[in-house]
Amino acid sequence: MIVGTVAAAGHGAMLPAFSILFGDIITSGGEGTQTGDADRLLEEMETLAIKLIILSAVAAVLAFLQVFCWSLAATRQGARIRSLYVESLFRQDAAWYDAQDSGELTARVASDVDLMTLGMGPKVGYAVQYFSSFVTGLSIGFAYGWALTLVILAVVPILAAGGAAYAKVMADSTLAGQTAYAKAGCVAAEALGLIRTVAAFGSEEHEAVRYEGHLRSAAATGKRRAILTGAAMAVTFFTLLDAYALAFWVGNKLVRRGDMLPGEVMTVFFCILIGAMGIGQVQPSISSLNAARGCAPRVFDIIDRVSAIDPLDEAGGEIPETPVKGDLALVDVDFTYPTRPDDLILQQLSLSVSRGQTLALVGTSGSGKSTAIQLLERLYDPAASSGTVLLDGVDVRTLNVRWLRSTIGYVFQMPTLFSLSIRDNIALGAGVTVRVDPVSGRRTIDAATVMEEDVIEAAKTANAHGFISRLPDGYDTMLGARGALLSGGQKQRVALARALVRRPSILLLDEATSALDSASERAVQVGLRRAALGRTTVAIAHRLSTICDADVIAVMGEGGRVTERGTHAQLMALPGGTYRHLVELQSVVKETVAQRAARKATRAAAVDGSGDDANYGSGSTVVDAPTDDDEAVASAGAAAVSSSEDASEATQPVDKGVFFRALRANAREWH
Ligand SMILES: Nc1ncnc2c1ncn2[C@@H]1O[C@H](COP(=O)(O)OP(=O)(O)OP(=O)(O)O)[C@@H](O)[C@H]1O
Ligand SMILES: [Mg+2]
Repeated sequence: MIVGTVAAAGHGAMLPAFSILFGDIITSGGEGTQTGDADRLLEEMETLAIKLIILSAVAAVLAFLQVFCWSLAATRQGARIRSLYVESLFRQDAAWYDAQDSGELTARVASDVDLMTLGMGPKVGYAVQYFSSFVTGLSIGFAYGWALTLVILAVVPILAAGGAAYAKVMADSTLAGQTAYAKAGCVAAEALGLIRTVAAFGSEEHEAVRYEGHLRSAAATGKRRAILTGAAMAVTFFTLLDAYALAFWVGNKLVRRGDMLPGEVMTVFFCILIGAMGIGQVQPSISSLNAARGCAPRVFDIIDRVSAIDPLDEAGGEIPETPVKGDLALVDVDFTYPTRPDDLILQQLSLSVSRGQTLALVGTSGSGKSTAIQLLERLYDPAASSGTVLLDGVDVRTLNVRWLRSTIGYVFQMPTLFSLSIRDNIALGAGVTVRVDPVSGRRTIDAATVMEEDVIEAAKTANAHGFISRLPDGYDTMLGARGALLSGGQKQRVALARALVRRPSILLLDEATSALDSASERAVQVGLRRAALGRTTVAIAHRLSTICDADVIAVMGEGGRVTERGTHAQLMALPGGTYRHLVELQSVVKETVAQRAARKATRAAAVDGSGDDANYGSGSTVVDAPTDDDEAVASAGAAAVSSSEDASEATQPVDKGVFFRALRANAREWH
């Protein structure tokens, strides 16, 4: 940046220096014609021409250095800020994200950092260059003819005021425009991300109108900017051109009085002209500096934010020396979400589960089951004096976040997958490995690597291997955004495999079998039972059949309190108990479902074949025949793959008329 600045200053000084040469040329030319000494004139012109060439070569080198250095600095700093920004986003806790608009955050990574780099890059070089032109121009002007310079300078305040107003308008409206476009972008991203919901509710037009609404406010800002910048431009040029007229008039008088040579008048005139143009051109650079200044606090606020629960902080928190045992407990926990501080979700909640055992949470919707699980995973922390969450008797807030999470396999209530291949999605669940420095004894963590066999084993346990193998690309099948190319149940099984692949000591299952048909559910249950062996498991379930053999069942009621606690048998023995009531309700439903299934089975007995996933080492007969969903996914996957191959293999015909189409699309703007 220092080299760039020096080069910019030198480059800026060059242009006024040229005007000295021009002045000399005019003076020599004038004298030459007066004396008639053609040879001397030619010689002088030759020397001047050589000087001109040398000067222009120096200017070229300086210009190169200026732009190169500043552009390089800007690109490097942009990349650095961008990665700091994104890294800081990944450090933030769930509570912070609850209060943010994630679409706007994404848009800001792009636009704010872009504006910042623009303000840090070549524009700074240009500002220095033009400012240097102004200063040098003025200095030479004073040296060659102070009177004329002063006369011309009389109009500079008007120019400067116009310039300042212009810069302010540009900076304000750029920010307003950016915000409006970011909001419009969020609407589009959300609507496209949820395109199926949009289609199902026919709200395409509504979304389009919402998008247009934001665009309209951007357009209004644009219009204001157009008027104001136009006016500022007009005033600037009017003043500038009138200043020329004045300069010629005064210059002419000075020459006639014999105070100045015509060449000197030209030098002064060009110097001031270049200097004034320089100060004019500084304006856009300053406006982009202003825009950068506007964005910078927002970017740095996020970069500097210290997250309460930072998973990337390697040094933060303890990594225990002994392997995890898996005793989990919540002790007298009160919890409110930071976005809703008045709504007490958990009140004096105490739950515990010993190593290797299974705790099942049941209860009404909204009673805080998922919330309790999120406290175990440390997505949120209870307030300092509102109870503790313990792992092996240690407050989880004192543990290293990344290590803690690597000991837990978590299947979310709404499993989401990435638009990667199935293999990569499962492998994402790889935990961490702990390294101990032999000298200092310090414990550090690295990302673990997962082998193909681990992925397959996890998929088998989650009962996903069968359907994955039937897909044309198997484990290489790409899943589309958020796993859109899989059925709900398939997504859930892949998510389960992802949680199992790290061989966690603790399993948190939030409705992990809710989207499965009863046959697959039973198969997954068998797999889960196997997976849960030797692991502490906390399972949330609405379908009570899936948790009846849990070691402890806790029923959560309104206000996040545990109302009943015990084994299935104990709770069933409670007369008038909530759990018993729920089980009875579900048995009725189950009966009718079973009856209907039996009717169907007799009708289609011949059609059914046995699936690959059958017989998971248990006595239960499990059938996972290819369902419609399976086939739909297979063909969708194939279609997706073949279309992507088409795109990469076939050369796209170039639409030569694209320029004219753009012109036609803008037909309204022609007049
Ligand atoms: N991120 C959040 N910010 C604010 N409130 C939340 C948040 N997540 C959940 N809540 C509220 O907390 C309460 C408990 O939610 P929770 O998801 O724990 O319920 P649940 O028992 O898992 O219900 P379900 O059985 O329907 O999944 C609800 O009233 C919900 O509105
Ligand atoms: Mg829930």
